[in-house]
Amino acid sequence: MTQFHPRQRQDEATPVLELRDIRISYSSVDAPPVLAVEHLSLCVREGEFLALIGPSGCGKSSTLNAMAGLTPVDAGEILLHGQPVHRISDRVGYISQADHLLPWRTVLDNVALGLELRGMSKKLRHARARELIASMGLGGFETNYPHELSGGMKKRVTIARVLAIEPEILFMDEPFAPLDVFTRERLQEDIMGVWAATGQTIVYVTHDLTEAISLADRVLLFGGRPGQVRGEYPVPLARPRQVMDAKFDDQFVSLEKTILTDLRAALRETGGPGDGN
Ligand SMILES: Nc1ncnc2c1ncn2[C@@H]1O[C@H](COP(=O)(O)OP(=O)(O)OP(=O)(O)O)[C@@H](O)[C@H]1O
Ligand SMILES: [Mg+2]
Repeated sequence: MTQFHPRQRQDEATPVLELRDIRISYSSVDAPPVLAVEHLSLCVREGEFLALIGPSGCGKSSTLNAMAGLTPVDAGEILLHGQPVHRISDRVGYISQADHLLPWRTVLDNVALGLELRGMSKKLRHARARELIASMGLGGFETNYPHELSGGMKKRVTIARVLAIEPEILFMDEPFAPLDVFTRERLQEDIMGVWAATGQTIVYVTHDLTEAISLADRVLLFGGRPGQVRGEYPVPLARPRQVMDAKFDDQFVSLEKTILTDLRAALRETGGPGDGN
């Protein structure tokens, strides 16, 4: 796989995705409407790894879902390559914390699902799925069923399933939150490898500031209710990075302190549940 250096590309990068002054609200019959985000604008640059962090309830998932075309906006606009996003596009992939594999399908057929839905022949989709399964370190488990896998292995299959459709942008919402720290660090390394090899754009929501800085080119801090962008922090660490060692770098520690101070201010402002971030 060819290594490339996304940082060089970013300097001249144009936005692949743009959110202009968006508002997202939820209404239900038996409760007052909830305004999740308002007057929120941001840009995602081509090929970048962008992390979104912030207190619970400040609209990170709502914003990510809107970017992916899963949640409509009430006001403002979302542009993918300059074109309005109204529904989920086959150029994007989405992985959430709660993603499930289909229990009645083998690993191979789970990974091949998206290609099957696109009408690819069995031979071709299985060949592509086998490659991805091997690249995710799961060679030999093609005929296993999800219940026979560990949590980390299931997550790898989920990632392979999304990568199979070769999304241009990958949206990830706390994808590794339920996993133990060692499994999580290995999966973070895997995702970095995929990102470096494919040139994909990744937008990654996390509660974990260390994870955000270790992985991203740029961190956006969300805060408030309704949520808005409260801070933007380019990450000065060199690429390629070792996720497990990055946190010992002096620049890392200094950036972490800066963001932590602003995150605490956002927590005081946002309040409510989940203040223990
Ligand atoms: N489907 C929904 N129906 C009603 N309200 C919702 C819905 N989804 C989110 N909300 C509300 O919108 C606000 C923003 O929620 P959102 O899930 O976007 O926050 P978040 O920043 O992702 O939080 P967390 O870090 O806890 O995942 C919250 O007040 C939440 O209660
Ligand atoms: Mg969320």
